[in-house]
Amino acid sequence: MKSKPFFINLNKKVLLSALVLGGLFLFAGLAVSDTADTSLIKSFRIERSMSPQAAACIECHKTEHPGLFSDWAKSRHASANITCLDCHIADEVDGDVSKSHFKQYERSDTKYGRKEFRTPISAVVTPKDCSRCHPDETKQYAKSKHANTLEIIWKIDPWLNKGMNSETERESGCYTCHGTILKNDKDGNLDASTWPNTGVGRLNMDGSKGSCTSCHTRHRFSIMEARKPEACGQCHLGPDHPQIEIFTESKHGAIYDTFGDEYNWDSAPGSWTPGVDFRGPTCASCHMSGAGSVMTSHDVTERLSWELQAPLTVRPEDFKPLPAKNDWKKERDKMKEICMQCHGQAWVDGHYVKLDKAVQEYNEVYFAPAKKMLGDLYEKGLLDKTKFFDEKLEVEYYELWHHEGRRARFGTAMMAPDYAWWHGFYECKKRFSNYMEEARELIKHNKKDYKAEDFPNATGSTVKPKELFPK
Ligand code: HEC
Ligand code: HEC
Ligand code: HEC
Ligand code: HEC
Ligand code: HEC
Ligand code: HEC
Ligand code: HEC
Ligand code: HEC
Repeated sequence: MKSKPFFINLNKKVLLSALVLGGLFLFAGLAVSDTADTSLIKSFRIERSMSPQAAACIECHKTEHPGLFSDWAKSRHASANITCLDCHIADEVDGDVSKSHFKQYERSDTKYGRKEFRTPISAVVTPKDCSRCHPDETKQYAKSKHANTLEIIWKIDPWLNKGMNSETERESGCYTCHGTILKNDKDGNLDASTWPNTGVGRLNMDGSKGSCTSCHTRHRFSIMEARKPEACGQCHLGPDHPQIEIFTESKHGAIYDTFGDEYNWDSAPGSWTPGVDFRGPTCASCHMSGAGSVMTSHDVTERLSWELQAPLTVRPEDFKPLPAKNDWKKERDKMKEICMQCHGQAWVDGHYVKLDKAVQEYNEVYFAPAKKMLGDLYEKGLLDKTKFFDEKLEVEYYELWHHEGRRARFGTAMMAPDYAWWHGFYECKKRFSNYMEEARELIKHNKKDYKAEDFPNATGSTVKPKELFPK
């Protein structure tokens, strides 16, 4: 999409105070009296003009999509005179320009459907489009594992690399959270197998990655929404990454349930203060919002000192598919500084001692021997490497690290004892024992594992998408 520089001739505070005094000043701007002492009074003006083309979008859509219009009208964007066109503007030649929308300018049933208002627009609004006005958030986001997740999953995931599920299963599941590679169909419209989509790592046609709407739903684009745990819980849930369930059962979650109504969710960007605006942290306060000397960041990879989702827990800089360019000790210190807005040093240090011990025990006691046994079974030809998930012990091994092994680590990291133990280490123990017993039986009798010859729907492509891996 086309990007024009955008300027607001005021700083944020001035704009906000002008909005507070809205009734007085909003009409055209603030005229400064000629007789006032000009050395004391700043000169500023608020431009609330817009082009006839931009006004036509609003007027026509107000009747066509009243739900969409009122969402925008209540947003900070509308208050700041950011119009539909500022975000949806496109070049006639852009890959994602809407071909069908031009028909709206040939209508005779509305005065806004005339050809003098004709403007190319795109339905897709990417991080690159937002970066015109929000460059910092966009730069941070681009570095994160959120933005780069499609590359990561195509490097390591057996469902994709071994083609073990169908394209439909991927589209309705994986890609809805992780993101699609946007494409046009043969008529030049967005391909229904890739759109609509608001996954965190969506690959857009302008080359940018992600969709800011995954946390700030359109058209409110509210900061309040993204600060609430529900914004993250739509993806961070379930047997393999139950962060929302973990949060809900933690003391922090219980405090949110009890006192959340009293939190000041809408405090200005970067000023959401622990203790003042809220008394218990949410996902955003620990992972994204600033506090103390730690700055707000749209890179969720910051503040982490472990890769707790990985089969073998490693440091973020040692995570091969996408090594973080961070120093884990510094990132841990940042997270600790967030905790210490509300807790003392010993409380926080004690928590991390516990986390590090849980990581070490998971790695050494459960993961390492299970992995070694899997290797032995492949070597002896009792398991077959060509596919994955089609043999019983492959599934057992997978669920050991991917389900309960993660829950044990996440539960410990985020203070949820029921997840750390009953859904975590307890289940690890049970599965580990069964897996080892069955594996030893196979070895003892030199017997191949049961193989599902009719494994369903293993029809997905195994070719790494060229858009992500050009070579
Ligand atoms: C004369 C009425 C009219 C005007 C003017 C108009 N639109 Fe639309 N627009 C529509 C209607 C109706 C649809 C829904 C079409 C459909 O459902 O197939 C639509 C669809 C859209 C879509 C979704 C397109 C897609 O391909 O999915 C976007 C984005 C959009 N409009 C933005 C704008 C912007 C930005 C402007 C101003 C530059 C604008 N519209 C001007 C009536 C209008
Ligand atoms: C701050 C930027 C921004 C502004 C301002 C904005 N939009 Fe959007 N709009 C988006 C984003 C982001 C999406 C989601 C598309 C995506 O994920 O790429 C979207 C989606 C849409 C869609 C498709 C949604 C659907 O559910 O079919 C339409 C239609 C649309 N916008 C029309 C408008 C109209 C009309 C206005 C003005 C009243 C407007 N937009 C103002 C960013 C914006
Ligand atoms: C043409 C400039 C412009 C574009 C493009 C733009 N924004 Fe904004 N945005 C603003 C302005 C101005 C504000 C208000 C700043 C303030 O109140 O401090 C704002 C505020 C916000 C806020 C804070 C809202 C709140 O509740 O305080 C969010 C979130 C946001 N924008 C997200 C987006 C996203 C996501 C996109 C792209 C889909 C986008 N913006 C595109 C100018 C823009
Ligand atoms: C409900 C949303 C959702 C669905 C559906 C989903 N994932 Fe994920 N996936 C996530 C989240 C959230 C994480 C982050 C886990 C963490 O770090 O705690 C993740 C993590 C991963 C990882 C690990 C990435 C890493 O950095 O190690 C891979 C690989 C992966 N998913 C692949 C897939 C595949 C393939 C599918 C479909 C078969 C799928 N996911 C379905 C949300 C989802
Ligand atoms: C993973 C969820 C998530 C995604 C995705 C996301 N944001 Fe945010 N955003 C947040 C949170 C949480 C805050 C609140 C930070 C705070 O407390 O001040 C925020 C705040 C903002 C603000 C207010 C200013 C600030 O930095 O605090 C802007 C502007 C913004 N986001 C723009 C964007 C843009 C542009 C994108 C896409 C590149 C984006 N966001 C994607 C969660 C997200
Ligand atoms: C639309 C789905 C979606 C939403 C919404 C979402 N995430 Fe994620 N998140 C993911 C996926 C997918 C991954 C895995 C990325 C990877 O490792 O490949 C992930 C990974 C993460 C990670 C691990 C990053 C790393 O470097 O290991 C953190 C932390 C995280 N998300 C926090 C959040 C927070 C906080 C929110 C809400 C403010 C949020 N996410 C909202 C899908 C989502
Ligand atoms: C009290 C602060 C706190 C809260 C609240 C919190 N987290 Fe965490 N989170 C942590 C800590 C600490 C870690 C482990 C960090 C490390 O690696 O050192 C972590 C780890 C994670 C990871 C694992 C990243 C990986 O290695 O795979 C994800 C994903 C995540 N959190 C998402 C969330 C989501 C989503 C929520 C809300 C539902 C949430 N967190 C709530 C502190 C918090
Ligand atoms: C906004 C304030 C706030 C922040 C930030 C915060 N906490 Fe808490 N936390 C609390 C409160 C309040 C309690 C309840 C204490 C009690 O039991 O009386 C609590 C409880 C706890 C508990 C006890 C859990 C239990 O089940 O007894 C631990 C452990 C903890 N926090 C660790 C952390 C860590 C580690 C961080 C940073 C990653 C953190 N907290 C961030 C406010 C906070």
